[in-house]
Amino acid sequence: MLKAFLWLATIAMSINLALGVNYTVGGQNGRWTQAGINYQTWASSITFLVGDNLIFQYSLNHNVNEVSKEDFDSCSASNPLQPRFTGGTTIITLTTQGSRYFICGTSNHCLLGMKVEIDTLATSESPPTLISSSPSSPPPPNTTPSRERGRLPLFGK
Ligand SMILES: *[C@@H]1O[C@H](CO)[C@@H](O)[C@H](O)[C@H]1NC(C)=O
Repeated sequence: MLKAFLWLATIAMSINLALGVNYTVGGQNGRWTQAGINYQTWASSITFLVGDNLIFQYSLNHNVNEVSKEDFDSCSASNPLQPRFTGGTTIITLTTQGSRYFICGTSNHCLLGMKVEIDTLATSESPPTLISSSPSSPPPPNTTPSRERGRLPLFGK
């Protein structure tokens, strides 16, 4: 019974992970705001993997600009890498590994802390560890992708 439960839990987890994880920027119920959230502290608490989504939630006086590292450092939103996002909800899918930089383009909001660097790691394919091979269990699904969300070493740091 326990084994069956673990097996189901593993499958459910694999499916969920395969779809990617949604992260609201700033934390659960987080907001994209100039009111004192340290987004870098938030981001460094998460291991972002390819396929995960960033969800920016903000009031209409804010916006989201993806910028170069240089513009991130200098808080310049005049040359965003893709058209400025507006409207209150912006979903960014992390499609490749590497670093991406987001800032608010409203007046001095970036200087007030509305800036975040997101470092995305490649997904790591590895066999499920919870699946038992005893005959009473269902056969392991060889084709179900799985990955570990454990402590992956951060590269380039
Ligand atoms: C992430 O958010 C999108 C858009 O709201 C939704 O369609 C998707 O089901 C969510 N994924 C997860 C794993 O919650």
